Amino acid sequence: MTEKLHSIREKSIVFIGFMGVGKTTIAKLVASKLYRDFIDIDEEIEKEFGMPTTDIFNKYGETFFREKEKEYVLHYCKQPLKVISLGGGAFLQDEIKDACLKHSIVIYLDISWEAWKERLHLLIDSRPVLQNKSPDEIKDLFDSRKTIYEQHDSKLLTDHSDPEEISDYIIESMKLAWELHS
Ligand code: S3P
Repeated sequence: MTEKLHSIREKSIVFIGFMGVGKTTIAKLVASKLYRDFIDIDEEIEKEFGMPTTDIFNKYGETFFREKEKEYVLHYCKQPLKVISLGGGAFLQDEIKDACLKHSIVIYLDISWEAWKERLHLLIDSRPVLQNKSPDEIKDLFDSRKTIYEQHDSKLLTDHSDPEEISDYIIESMKLAWELHS
């Protein structure tokens, strides 16, 4: 079945990037500035199960979490006028990556290893994929994920900017793109 594609003005905006880069904070700001609905995929899954993602991983396993993640992303990325924050591992699934690139505008929030490792202590307890890993294994995960995120519509390095600045910059860029396509 052929699926209807929305115009560039209507396409949802999807944020990708490594854990702790600020996807949720920035996506929320962009959504409120564009008067769009904000969707956080992890939050949707947490609401369904009434527990944090770490507990879902522990109780049901990662494969189960990934299936749920796919279900929610495929549902929302095809809808118009949303701003969606994806979990850092979602783009590892080809079905998710392909659907987002086809139906929405994918913005990759990038961060350097130096800047990210300053945040590690804030993330370690709440991110199951970081647990029981050595510093070298975490660095390997960081590097291998970068390759996955390289398929996107737009990329921004977040190291030296705050979420307000980043969200304003994204909105200005989106407006330019919409004008070019009008
Ligand atoms: C994950 C990232 C998390 C969450 C889950 C798995 C990952 O989301 O989906 O813990 O595999 O990178 P954030 O990127 O919002 O931290």
